[in-house]
Amino acid sequence: MNNNPGNKSGNYGNNENHDAGSEPVLRIRDLRKIYMQGKIPVPALDGVSFDVNKGEFLSIVGPSGSGKSTLLSMIGLLDRPTEGSVFIDDVEITKAKESEAPRIRREKIGFVFQHFNLLSTFTAMENVDIAMRFTGTPKNKRKERALELLTMVGLGDRIKHKPSELSGGQQQRVAIARALANEPAILLADEPTGAVDTKTREVIVNLLKGLSEKGQTIIVVTHDMDVARQTDRIITMRDGTISGDTGGS
Ligand SMILES: Nc1ncnc2c1ncn2[C@@H]1O[C@H](COP(=O)(O)OP(=O)(O)OP(=O)(O)O)[C@@H](O)[C@H]1O
Ligand SMILES: [Mg+2]
Repeated sequence: MNNNPGNKSGNYGNNENHDAGSEPVLRIRDLRKIYMQGKIPVPALDGVSFDVNKGEFLSIVGPSGSGKSTLLSMIGLLDRPTEGSVFIDDVEITKAKESEAPRIRREKIGFVFQHFNLLSTFTAMENVDIAMRFTGTPKNKRKERALELLTMVGLGDRIKHKPSELSGGQQQRVAIARALANEPAILLADEPTGAVDTKTREVIVNLLKGLSEKGQTIIVVTHDMDVARQTDRIITMRDGTISGDTGGS
């Protein structure tokens, strides 16, 4: 019922509690996911463990099929691992009841996808507002916050535009505003720049960088090393395991 749980400042994008490097917001322990392809087991994740600190901007790279999207869907509680644990803010989300999953997703995770996934008949404002519909936030507060977020991503003058009336980069910025609406502990992005040109890519990456500097934890999956190089830390996956990690933990 509350979109502002725990010790959040209520002040997205201006987090006074920002203390990157000291507090793991995400802990992953020996994560395994085996998909069954008929009778043949396909190990998509084969023992993955790492920590992510608050405010860290992490990229995950690796060849197609190495398990990147599978890993994101475990962190985002879209699917369950075969074995292992994911903790967000010290809550073991992998143990949550199925009935609890939507609330945890809404409160802890913001999702950004390659193809934006905006509602086509809704305006930019409505697309952000809808993320807050089930949180108990009153309508006037939701509107205020949607406007603040859209202004922050540079679209304060586009709030009444529908997705078809916006460029790809603008649509992705609406999607980022929507993902931040409930002050998620972690922003997860799967190929957020995969469908935009290189100039727009820089706009999106700079926006994400700015958010992480203000304390937002961000994990981005990308094939684009020019994007990965601009993040704080790069984890490389191969065959469902971590084959490289430029961060220490
Ligand atoms: N629902 C599923 N059922 C069966 N196998 C799956 C399923 N989802 C993924 N896999 C398999 O798990 C492995 C990891 O897939 P995943 O989508 O995580 O890779 P990825 O690193 O995101 O690849 P890409 O870069 O192409 O997006 C692949 O071998 C894939 O075929
Ligand atoms: Mg993928």
